[in-house]
Amino acid sequence: MKHLLIALALALPGMAMAAGGGGTAYKFDPDLGNEPSLQRGAAAFMNYCSGCHSMGLLRYNRLAADLGIPEDLLQENLMFTSDKVGAQINSAMIPASAKWFGKQPPDLTLTARARGDDWVYSFLKTFYVEEGRPNGVNNLTLPGASMPHVLGGLQGWQKLKPAEEGEEHAEAGGHGASHAPEFEVLEEGVLSAKEYDGLVADITNFMVYAAEPVKIKRKEIGTLVILYLMLFTFVAYLLKREFWKDVH
Ligand code: HEC
Repeated sequence: MKHLLIALALALPGMAMAAGGGGTAYKFDPDLGNEPSLQRGAAAFMNYCSGCHSMGLLRYNRLAADLGIPEDLLQENLMFTSDKVGAQINSAMIPASAKWFGKQPPDLTLTARARGDDWVYSFLKTFYVEEGRPNGVNNLTLPGASMPHVLGGLQGWQKLKPAEEGEEHAEAGGHGASHAPEFEVLEEGVLSAKEYDGLVADITNFMVYAAEPVKIKRKEIGTLVILYLMLFTFVAYLLKREFWKDVH
C-alpha cells in the first residue's frame, strides 16, 4: 500500500505534465505496429538502460512472445539480468550503488504512460553539457536530472545556445513552447543526428509498448471485430432481402 502511494505521488506530477501537453521539446508518434522498431528498442533498452533501470512489471517471455523474438535469441542477446525466461526484467544494479546518483533509478515499466511518449523521447534528446553538474550534464526535459547521459557517445555532446533577445528556451513543463530547443554541437557522436533520432524513437516505442502490452493485441482484436461487423451487416442485408422479396 505504502509503495502504491509513493508510486502514485511520483506519477501524478508526471501525469499532470503529460496531460498539460505542449511542454516537451519534441513530439513523438509511437508506432506499435512496427515490430522491428520494437525489437531494436528492446535490445537497446537491455544494452544501455537495464544496467540501472528495471521494468519490473514485464516478463522476458511475455516480451519475446509479443515482439516475435525466438526464445534462444532472447536468452543469448537480451537477457543480462536473469537466466529465467519467466522472470521480470530487473535491473543489474544493487540498491547500494544507486547512491552514487543521489537517486535510485526508477522502474521504467509505466514511465511512457505516466510521463507521456513525447516526454520520454524529448528527455533522451535533451541532455546537454553543463559545468558543475555531478555528471557534467543537465537535461532540458528533467532539469537537475541525476541520470548521466548514457547515450552521449552515440549522440555526441551538445550545449545549450544562449537564449537570444526576447526568446526563451523551451523548458519542460514550461510555457507550452514546443519549438525545438537550440543546441550547439560540441563533439560529434558515433551516430548521425538522424540515426540517433531513430535509436531514441525505437527506445521510446519499446517503452510505450512496455507501459501497455495489451495495446498491440487490442488493435488486432479491434480490426477483427470491425471486419466481423461488416460481414454480419452484409449477411443481415441478404437475409432481409430474402425475407421481404415476396411481400411487395
Ligand atoms: C547509470 C545509471 C543509468 C542508466 C544506464 C540509465 N539511467 Fe535513466 N535514470 C537514472 C537515474 C539515477 C534517474 C533518476 C533521475 C532523476 O530523477 O533525477 C534516471 C531517470 C530516467 C528517466 C526519468 C524517469 C522519470 O519518470 O522521472 C527516464 C525516462 C530514463 N531514466 C530513461 C533511461 C533510458 C531509456 C536509459 C537507457 C538508454 C537509461 N535511462 C539509462 C540512471 C540511469
